[in-house]
Amino acid sequence: MKTLVVYSSRTGNTKMVAEAIFEVMGQNAVIAPVQTAPDPQDFDLVIIGFWVDKGIPDNTARQYMAKISGK
Ligand SMILES: Cc1cc2nc3c(=O)[nH]c(=O)nc-3n(C[C@H](O)[C@H](O)[C@H](O)COP(=O)(O)O)c2cc1C
Repeated sequence: MKTLVVYSSRTGNTKMVAEAIFEVMGQNAVIAPVQTAPDPQDFDLVIIGFWVDKGIPDNTARQYMAKISGK
């Protein structure tokens, strides 16, 4: 199973958690910041972490999540 871990982190906390998740996901996992993340449709499982801005995911994370369907 191909797994993608994507994070949007302003001060590093979300990045740290994403890296910990990535470490236990095995050989078919890829990790990337949201700014350079690959096409989510190429993966079976997509894990996304983001910082919260005004009660919702930050703008870059929301734009990336809009590309995802059927996952
Ligand atoms: C402009 C701004 C708005 C924020 N709005 C919220 C919010 O509405 N709710 C919340 O729980 N945290 C809010 N936060 C806190 C951030 O989501 C929090 O600092 C984030 O978890 C940090 O993650 P990071 O270290 O990966 O950047 C806000 C922070 C900033 C800078």
